[in-house]
Amino acid sequence: MLPALAVVLGGSVGLTAAHPQSQRREVAAFPAGASWDIILNKGDTNLDSLAGTVSADVTAIDIDLFDNEASTISSLKAENKQVICYFSAGSREDWREDADKFKADDYGQGLDGWAGENWVNVKSENVRSIMKTRIELAAQKGCTAVDPDNVDGFNDNQDGFGFDQSAYADYVKFLASTAVDNKLAIGLKNSLDLIPDVVDVIQFAVNEQCHEYDECDRYKPLTNANKAVFTIEYGGNACDSPAGVNLSILIKDEDQALDTLGGACKASSGDFKQPTATSAASQSAVAEVTSTPTAAPAEPSAGAGDEGEGEDEEEGEDEDEDEDEDEDDE
Ligand SMILES: *[C@@H]1O[C@H](CO)[C@@H](O)[C@H](O)[C@H]1NC(C)=O
Repeated sequence: MLPALAVVLGGSVGLTAAHPQSQRREVAAFPAGASWDIILNKGDTNLDSLAGTVSADVTAIDIDLFDNEASTISSLKAENKQVICYFSAGSREDWREDADKFKADDYGQGLDGWAGENWVNVKSENVRSIMKTRIELAAQKGCTAVDPDNVDGFNDNQDGFGFDQSAYADYVKFLASTAVDNKLAIGLKNSLDLIPDVVDVIQFAVNEQCHEYDECDRYKPLTNANKAVFTIEYGGNACDSPAGVNLSILIKDEDQALDTLGGACKASSGDFKQPTATSAASQSAVAEVTSTPTAAPAEPSAGAGDEGEGEDEEEGEDEDEDEDEDEDDE
């Protein structure tokens, strides 16, 4: 199946008159309830094919923009995957290939708990220029969409710049406009306060821990507009969507490393495909098999692991551990 397309009115999303009001640009649509997976730290996992992995049937796959080659992205698209390319829009990561493009006053205090990462000044023209180049890189590599992280620096002034919400709404609109200009879809990462500001210029959202923070229902405007809400919970088995919301939920390891495939919730609560660390090995064994992706939501399949009603957690954590987690990292 070909990915669905959404028509975006170019002029309605831009901050500048870069293109005429009447000009339409097409970007991919991500319908509510779409299946997905995310693997940001791929390690030795070969992402050239998802065939034979726990995520063979997903519609969308979210991978790191910098750490994956164009050839990987085109291979995934050949398997009819929508490829979402992750980058941090709100921080400077000192290990990235473009880290030296940031000027000294473009970034400030560190991200709590993330070594080598500092919040950037989202009003800086230089920062915006760097992000524009990253979005252009995503287009060059053939990504379907971008997933710009860390756009919630105004929450509790965690970026230290003292900006209010409107500065970040403006920033996400800038990113969305730039994405459309490059025929890329774009998601809103966390930053739930921005949903009303940007719902019309994004095609999906990526969320972490909305169950844990009891705020999944804030995504109603998105799924009501038939836009996917790709949700990650770290540990536990919270596979329910609140009434009126249709979430695409993954249960990932509590270490938040996002280094394994799998974890997709299925129809019933507490029932999900265990993340698997063996994807690379199983993949190379089946790399010659032609995958036959379908438009249907992933169904429980033979070999998807035993369906232990969420009991088969392997790290011995108890299921109420959610309460103990750091509440600051929202
Ligand atoms: C959620 O969306 C999927 C995919 O469109 C659909 O199959 C499913 O029935 C929806 N679930 C609800 C509760 O609306």
